[in-house]
Amino acid sequence: MFGSPQSSPILAVETSCDETAIAVLGADGALLAGEISSQIDIHRAFGGVVPEVASRQHLEMIDPVLRVALLRAGLALGDIGAFAATAGPGLASALLVGMAYAKGLALGCGRPFLAVNHLEGHLLSPFFGRTEGVRPCVALIVSGGHTLLLDVRGPCDYSKLGGTRDDAAGEAFDKVGKMLGLPYPGGPEIERTARGGDSHRFDLPRGLMHSDDFSFSFSGLKTAVRYLLPKLRDGFLPDLCASFQEAVIEVLSSKAVRAVRYCGRRLLAVSGGVSCNLALRERLTADCARAGIEVWFADPRLCTDNAAMIAFAARQHLLAGRTSGITTPVDPNLGL
Ligand code: KG4
Ligand code: ZN
Repeated sequence: MFGSPQSSPILAVETSCDETAIAVLGADGALLAGEISSQIDIHRAFGGVVPEVASRQHLEMIDPVLRVALLRAGLALGDIGAFAATAGPGLASALLVGMAYAKGLALGCGRPFLAVNHLEGHLLSPFFGRTEGVRPCVALIVSGGHTLLLDVRGPCDYSKLGGTRDDAAGEAFDKVGKMLGLPYPGGPEIERTARGGDSHRFDLPRGLMHSDDFSFSFSGLKTAVRYLLPKLRDGFLPDLCASFQEAVIEVLSSKAVRAVRYCGRRLLAVSGGVSCNLALRERLTADCARAGIEVWFADPRLCTDNAAMIAFAARQHLLAGRTSGITTPVDPNLGL
């Protein structure tokens, strides 16, 4: 016999980009399984994600990923109380695979369906596994597709403070990495190469650093690296990576601290793939300590795309009594 959806395990599917991910949360919210099949090695040959290749790969991997997730959770499909999937933002053809799959499972099992905003998944990920619940804070989401500052009043209650006007922070890392001949994705490669480099050697622009809003711009920084490159001789790579990384980090940290002060919050919650970056974590930790602000980071395993954060967001909605219609469409440009 089923328990109520609120007091049963949740299964979530995430296929917004190049990870086929399925997670299962137990009735108490604990992570029972978090499976991720990454396509990075496939897309690396193209220097970036190819949408049609991504969706075909999702189709191929989604059944095996489900089987492993259920096996690891020690559950059968009939034990799941609700099914969730990422509805957007992301690649349309990739989102469609996960949404159709989760809807099919929900219909087949006669359980509720929840369409989840990928950004809300990232936003809430620093709260995953903490006993305090979702606290009012300012959220900084730094990923391959987004650079966002949001005022968070509570679960499911957010307003946007600002975002990027051009490239997202992760996109800037990836594009500069490509320019420097580093493998895709550029973010972790630049971080690795920057170790031991001199971050003061190259004076690179800090776009909108002193603007009186919470907008970001990273395209000028990327262009500055492009113009600098032909003038450089051997052995510059660690210094250039360190200088580039420093420029991104300085803008992110100074604007995030300013946003927390502006909103009168005491907590900064940081998430998204770029927040794996240790230099960013160190700078945010130091700047927040100086400003008397607490800072919570998502667990590094939950920073890049995963389904556990989607299941966690779905759980907040379910606990608030909300589910989604089975005809909810994917929305590649879904906002928060
Ligand atoms: O959150 P995510 O997996 O995907 C999106 O929703 O976009 O973020 C992926 C992004 C990529 O741009 C990747 O280069 C970046 O996160 N990233 C990093 C690091 N690890 C991943 N950027 C800087 N430093 C890292 N260590
Ligand atoms: Zn993401």
